[in-house]
Amino acid sequence: MWERLIGCGNWITKSVTKSADMDIAIYRQRRQRVIEQMGEGVMVVATAPEVPRNRDSHYPYRHDSYFYWLTGFNEPEAVVVLVGGKNPRHILFCREKNEEREIWDGFRFGPDAARETFAFDEAYSFDKLDEKLPGLLENQPLLAYLIGRDMAWDTQVMGWLNTVRSKARGGAHAPSKMIDARIWLDEMRLIKDGHELALMRRAAGISTAAHIAAMRTTRPGQHEYEIEAELLSSFRRGGAEAPAYNSIVASGANACVLHYVFNNKPLRDGDLLLIDAAAEYGSYAADITRTFPVNGRYSAAQRDVYELVLAAQASAINAVRPGNAWNDPHDAAVRELTQGMIDLKLLEGDVDGLIESEAYKRFYMHRTGHWLGMDVHDAGEYKLNGEWRSLVPGMTLTVEPGLYIRPADDVPKVFWNIGIRIEDDVVVTEEACEVLTNPPKTVAEVEEVMRHD
Ligand code: GLY
Ligand code: MN
Ligand code: MN
Repeated sequence: MWERLIGCGNWITKSVTKSADMDIAIYRQRRQRVIEQMGEGVMVVATAPEVPRNRDSHYPYRHDSYFYWLTGFNEPEAVVVLVGGKNPRHILFCREKNEEREIWDGFRFGPDAARETFAFDEAYSFDKLDEKLPGLLENQPLLAYLIGRDMAWDTQVMGWLNTVRSKARGGAHAPSKMIDARIWLDEMRLIKDGHELALMRRAAGISTAAHIAAMRTTRPGQHEYEIEAELLSSFRRGGAEAPAYNSIVASGANACVLHYVFNNKPLRDGDLLLIDAAAEYGSYAADITRTFPVNGRYSAAQRDVYELVLAAQASAINAVRPGNAWNDPHDAAVRELTQGMIDLKLLEGDVDGLIESEAYKRFYMHRTGHWLGMDVHDAGEYKLNGEWRSLVPGMTLTVEPGLYIRPADDVPKVFWNIGIRIEDDVVVTEEACEVLTNPPKTVAEVEEVMRHD
């Protein structure tokens, strides 16, 4: 998990038709579980808006992850309303059919077909939202929604509450409790079901193939963007909708810029290339980093640092097991890296003292992982009641230690501008964990796949 979250993921799918992997019963079951947890009340979750890019061009559309997790429906202008209590109702608001718009922009389900196809009890036109919602909220004790995600949406929701309140003299009352829907949705999204894991395996497989293609194609003299093109082409050829986040293709000193995205420099013989890139498939992200030599052979100094990061990753992965705390893999990686940095004369002192004083952060300044799912930095708390939470089967996370060595007088010159990260995706299993991503990783494996005779 990086300290600062980046603007990952403004590459988004255009498809508005039903995905081949969609299994509608699963989405209805998810909604039922949410309704059971909520009890009496109403939950309202909107999908993401279309976002203008410039003039009348839009960014490729990508639905909201919470909304899609509840519905499997990926048209813009849609809202799901779940009414809890003794008579639960699953209600969808979506765009009307519109022959002219469909000629220009493509298929829309319309409320009737959407209700049937996506297993809703009721469906209405999106235009009816303001008309219907006050009635649905009337005399309900609780309203759950994604508080604060979007100011315009907050204002719209408050408007419905005020409409209900305006009818107080007629005996209506508005929900007196308001709750963040994330309190239930995040916890459910955190534990992946079989359907989700199948999609994540596919995203991982496509992304693995793209990293192998990138290793095979890389030569001194090419540019970072040519390797990025190979990755993007590989994602699409593998059937992915889009990259899961903006690709980082960082050669030489650029690898020490954690969120480098320019990807425009020539690749120099003797430099390393750090690639942090992965695909989104079926709305699920992979997240992979590999760091390999532009010329196919690690130098001695590069190998020393690389093998240290690799050992730290192995220790961290070994700490991903049910019952261990979220932070155990990070602690394991920090210990391994700190000892290694002493051995390489990057740090001076004893391991415990350097960990205590956080001296290691000069070269390892981000965290070792984050939840992974529909969002690359996925939903879910990391601490419960002030303590790092325990890992349980079905949680998916990244394991991504690294070292980033900027030039400085007190740093051995052979290590200057070496930036290395190794990142894989893992799912916690009953016994330990399963690694979902597997591009070549050892020095021998990487050099073998890069060999071109
Ligand atoms: N690609 C974003 C991250 O590794 O967290
Ligand atoms: Mn990551
Ligand atoms: Mn990454």
